[in-house]
Amino acid sequence: MLFKTSEKYEELRKAIREFAETEVKPIAFQLDQNNEFPHDIVKMMGEHGWMGIPYAQEYGGAGSDALAYAIAVEELSRVDGGVGVILSAHTSLGSYPIEAFGTEEQKQKYLVPLASGEKLGAFGLTEPEAGSDAGGTQTTAELDGDYYILNGNKIFITNAPEADTYVVFAVTTPGIGTKGISAFIVEKGWEGFSFGDPYDKLGIRSSKTAELIFDNVKVPKENLLGQEGQGFRIAMQTLDGGRIGIAAQALGIAQGAYEAALQYSKERVQFGRPISQLQSIQFKFADMATKLRCARFLIYSAAELKSNHEPYGMEAAMAKMYASDIALEVTNDALQIHGGNGYLKGMEVERFYRDAKITTIYEGTNEIQRVVIGSYLIPRPKS
Ligand code: CAA
Repeated sequence: MLFKTSEKYEELRKAIREFAETEVKPIAFQLDQNNEFPHDIVKMMGEHGWMGIPYAQEYGGAGSDALAYAIAVEELSRVDGGVGVILSAHTSLGSYPIEAFGTEEQKQKYLVPLASGEKLGAFGLTEPEAGSDAGGTQTTAELDGDYYILNGNKIFITNAPEADTYVVFAVTTPGIGTKGISAFIVEKGWEGFSFGDPYDKLGIRSSKTAELIFDNVKVPKENLLGQEGQGFRIAMQTLDGGRIGIAAQALGIAQGAYEAALQYSKERVQFGRPISQLQSIQFKFADMATKLRCARFLIYSAAELKSNHEPYGMEAAMAKMYASDIALEVTNDALQIHGGNGYLKGMEVERFYRDAKITTIYEGTNEIQRVVIGSYLIPRPKS
């Protein structure tokens, strides 16, 4: 169990914090207001080598690990939760399944450009009738000669339509439940693959989210990821890691809100002194700081387990559930400390408050995290 991160991680934190402060912060309000995807920021993150932090250098990555990746998402989200999730969805959802289940050819063709930041990745699992019940996938992939013919649609897909490469889940054998689902690598630009208009969201508005529409898309057989029928397991294993990223995003948003409130409370004078001197305000900070510290330990320990190739599914679910729950509480307290000023557009804390909400919903709602944690604590009896 790690209580203090080593110098290597703190150097990365410093570099990303500086980048976030100088490149992201000045435009964060504009990105949020205009629902604008930060192309230049993503390009720069690629140039810094941050788009493939946990992947091997031979595949275009930085050759680091899950903890370094979590710190990167945390630091970006401390300034802009939308930029944090662009990195998170790209790294742990769009790239991880190719790294973990891809053939050597697939890794060379798809992982290398993703991890080096040349291309952006996304993950297509959710459907209108298959949200929490991911096994209810209805998109189909029917084998026809050298191609699978893909039909259906995926909703709420982070990084669409900006992403170049999509890991998509579809039914190859109907009627046998989760064992009939397979995973595919699908490229933007293929005939029959189109997008819905990007959603107009409450928060994380600098990230794009859109629907994927597949109308008889011809997916070459060699783009099947893993084996036929292995798709659900690939999706679940991918989400285990993804949840560390979302937990880190939630932590970063909460940390940003906490710091903004601390600063504000030192400047705001009421009753003849800065409100930071009032016990009612100090108690709020005591609670907020304790929650942040607990979330950070949960996240870093889950990341450490993953980096050490030990089981981490339960710990990742706990980290995601806790960090996102406290992100709502901390951003709420931070806004409360700002009083009426915090309710105004243009105040960072107003954006953090809106950005936090999604973290209790995506990559498995917090109700599903409890299902996952419960399944580790009390395994189902074997039938
Ligand atoms: N790793 C490997 N295998 C796993 C697994 C895991 N973590 N979890 C389950 N499996 C396997 C099981 O062992 C089982 O295999 P067998 O049949 O061989 O025993 C199989 O998968 C089916 O498992 P369950 O019976 O537990 O499946 P279920 O249908 O009851 O569903 C669930 C379980 C946990 C509720 C799952 O549906 C789930 O995680 N739902 C939430 C989906 C989700 O998180 N969606 C997020 C979308 S992505 C997103 O949000 C991205 C974004 O925007 C940023």
